[in-house]
Amino acid sequence: MKSKILITGLLLSAAIIGGCSAGGSGAKDTMDHSKMDHSNMSEEEMQQMNGEMESSEMENGHMSHTNPLALNDSTGENELALPPLLKPQEGEENIYTITAQIGETEIFDGIQTKTLGYNGSFLGPVIQVNEGENVTFRTKNELDETTTFHWHGVDIPGTGDGGPHNYVEPGQSKDIKFTVNQEAATLWFHPHPEGATAEQVYQGLAGLIYVEDARSKTLDLPNEYGINDFPLIFQDKQFDDNKQLNYKLAHNEDGAIGDTLLINGTINPKLTVGQEKVRLRLVNGSNARNYTYRLNTGDEFQQIATDGGLINKPNKLREITLTPGERAEIIIDFSKYDAASDIALLNESGAILLPFTIDEQKSSNPSNIPTNLNDYMVTDEERKLPVSKKLELFGMGNMVAINNKQFDMNRIDFTQKQGETEIWEIYNKSDMMGGMTHPFHIHGTQFKIVSIDDQEPPASEQGWKDTIAIDAGETFKLAVKFNNKGVYMFHCHILEHEENGMMGQVEVN
Ligand code: C2O
Ligand code: CU
Ligand code: CU
Repeated sequence: MKSKILITGLLLSAAIIGGCSAGGSGAKDTMDHSKMDHSNMSEEEMQQMNGEMESSEMENGHMSHTNPLALNDSTGENELALPPLLKPQEGEENIYTITAQIGETEIFDGIQTKTLGYNGSFLGPVIQVNEGENVTFRTKNELDETTTFHWHGVDIPGTGDGGPHNYVEPGQSKDIKFTVNQEAATLWFHPHPEGATAEQVYQGLAGLIYVEDARSKTLDLPNEYGINDFPLIFQDKQFDDNKQLNYKLAHNEDGAIGDTLLINGTINPKLTVGQEKVRLRLVNGSNARNYTYRLNTGDEFQQIATDGGLINKPNKLREITLTPGERAEIIIDFSKYDAASDIALLNESGAILLPFTIDEQKSSNPSNIPTNLNDYMVTDEERKLPVSKKLELFGMGNMVAINNKQFDMNRIDFTQKQGETEIWEIYNKSDMMGGMTHPFHIHGTQFKIVSIDDQEPPASEQGWKDTIAIDAGETFKLAVKFNNKGVYMFHCHILEHEENGMMGQVEVN
């Protein structure tokens, strides 16, 4: 009887949220019924489960997580806000001050919503750094609670990484000094205090880091900030009757999901672009929602970057999926359209995320996207390395675990030598419901996907990654190297799963 209640509970919670593995593209939808583990269930329970699943949740023979709470269409009434570019402290080249603070933001006309932000009331600036540069991030906590400053995707010593061990108490300030040791990429930063990461991100703490390098500066890619090069931070929120961000309202053990999309903090955004090629740096900064981006016209666009760098050559796509934590850069060629065109970015279920307005006067210099962007590759040596770390992701809700263990700040789960490449094998074990997609993330490094179920990864994932969408039943092999020492987290980037213990620690020495 007990297990029956559990099953029904699981079905219910899956039916309610579903968002965690929403939006998988057809190609990645490889759930295999035979892999399901039914070993702990009686005949009767199986029948009941199958009956319930067929009636409500089964789609094409497997559990459907493809229908989370729908997103409202953007009406396009507000021009998209752009995060400010952060200037170094005056007279102090390379010192950037980043203050976490409490504020109020007019998201809805005439209404103040209580929010958190970096150097402002909501979200944060773009910190621009260059490869090889010595920088100082001067972090300050002006919140009334403990926080940390985590640099997601940055190759940085563990003491500066901003994981749960590196907390900054209210009123405190801490300098993080490091040398930028990675290629051009769109990275981001957010808090990571134990037990409060999900809520602090939800209230507005998130900012961007752009890394440039010698190559990226000479490539003829659109790079005029706010003209033909735009960051787009996607976050879904649930506002209460007073238009406040009520985390408890959106909270779910499998991830906070909202019906209202904010891009860069703007509700009902639109983006005005010229009749030219435009670069969009897509950042999934949501707690739990996935997005499959496509154009309403069905037209192609080109992907040029993954999480941690440019890919080797532009990749033509009609859609791309990002799970929480992931980024991609795409180029849309608006020279094909004119002011009369109806063009918008949609998600997998057709919700209008971002309508575009084309200003025929606005065009700057047309760029010709180069065909060679980078020289990323998985080497033969890396392909031949044996698997030396195995991780099994399993569970949902507050039962999520890695290798059957939940996070313990006092337990080191793995060790690795600085500068040595190891093969991590990550398996997302299906459950009786089919299971969920987990966006798996490792701190302090950019890694390579060697294989997915022993196959080459798709072109869209042949580049530096720090977060990967692992569908139920899939096995990824990763080539992972840490250039620095320290204790680093690895975890599911559904922030509520991370909070519920789907996180571990690797010590690099
Ligand atoms: Cu986006 Cu533990 O990180
Ligand atoms: Cu991170
Ligand atoms: Cu997860």
